[in-house]
Amino acid sequence: MANLETKYLGLNLKNPIVVSSSGLTNSVEKIGKLVEAGAGAVVLKSLFEEQINHEVNNVIYKGEGFDYPEALDYVKGYTRDNSVNEYLKLIKETKAKYDIPVIASINCYSADEWVDFARQIEASGADALELNVFIVNTDKNSEAGDYEKIYYEVLNNVSQIISIPVSIKLGLYFSNLVSVVNKISVSGAKGVVMFNRFYEPDIDIDKLSLTSAEVFSSPADMRRTLRWVAIVSEKIQNIDISASTGVHNGEGVIKQLLAGATTVQVCSAIYKGGAKVVTEMVQKLESWMDDKGFKSVEEFRGSMNYGKIGDPHLYERAQFMRYFSSHE
Ligand SMILES: Cc1cc2nc3c(=O)[nH]c(=O)nc-3n(C[C@H](O)[C@H](O)[C@H](O)COP(=O)(O)O)c2cc1C
Repeated sequence: MANLETKYLGLNLKNPIVVSSSGLTNSVEKIGKLVEAGAGAVVLKSLFEEQINHEVNNVIYKGEGFDYPEALDYVKGYTRDNSVNEYLKLIKETKAKYDIPVIASINCYSADEWVDFARQIEASGADALELNVFIVNTDKNSEAGDYEKIYYEVLNNVSQIISIPVSIKLGLYFSNLVSVVNKISVSGAKGVVMFNRFYEPDIDIDKLSLTSAEVFSSPADMRRTLRWVAIVSEKIQNIDISASTGVHNGEGVIKQLLAGATTVQVCSAIYKGGAKVVTEMVQKLESWMDDKGFKSVEEFRGSMNYGKIGDPHLYERAQFMRYFSSHE
């Protein structure tokens, strides 16, 4: 019988299937269903800087009469603490009830205020912390490196003050992703999640208004992740990769592991199909390993990555030129 045990960020997971940070992991009850379904770990819904600020502003604009700056400061502190407290409670209760690695998540844009939250998250019993950093670069006078520095600063600051492992969740767009992941590993990250799928704006041409594009991914979205997992896992070996975006079934899980992912994160597929999707993925991985005679995930993990396939160009752009030219 295949052994699916996996070490991710130094944590022991019973299998490599991790439920992504999202509304799927924002309550103990929901997490319970995912544990029952066989998830290897869960990443809690992100604590957003934006969310905290929004709550603060809501209270203030309800016109409760803040004549004194001290009162305003008090309310800001109170609302922020309550958001944080709810989150810390979720960590504590989940850890008390279930034997599953719990990875907390913070969405951040800068290297300052939220660092305090990281301390409290560690103290509440989270096994690791995933930093969800997203910066939309719109300044025509800045260099890519100026923005990338924020990622390294964030990691340096957090890694210095907490001792649980830290991973970072990236978006897809970097001019040199391999170099960024290399610097991220030097800055203290034990893992990198590739990739987040961000809110994308769309335009309603009848109402002439901005709308949100499809929130959920499709299986076709997995290919971009697959290429970069295959490349990065070969080039940067001292960091765990968690493959995220477009993994909708057991086949997707297997492909990402073959490409070199340590774990695979799943979100849209569970929103669409329920917790049983996790069970199906575990079963598929197990039966595929049995068929192929693999006793452990380590036996095949990365065996089809950039360095192992014989012709690494298959993961590079030139191959696409050949591909297109064969379609007249
Ligand atoms: C409804 C919804 C809520 C999400 N909330 C978060 C979040 O709080 N923090 C985060 O890092 N990612 C969040 N994500 C992104 C997912 O964790 C995941 O990275 C993304 O959906 C790609 O994976 P998928 O193709 O399996 O859906 C959210 C995604 C969805 C669909």
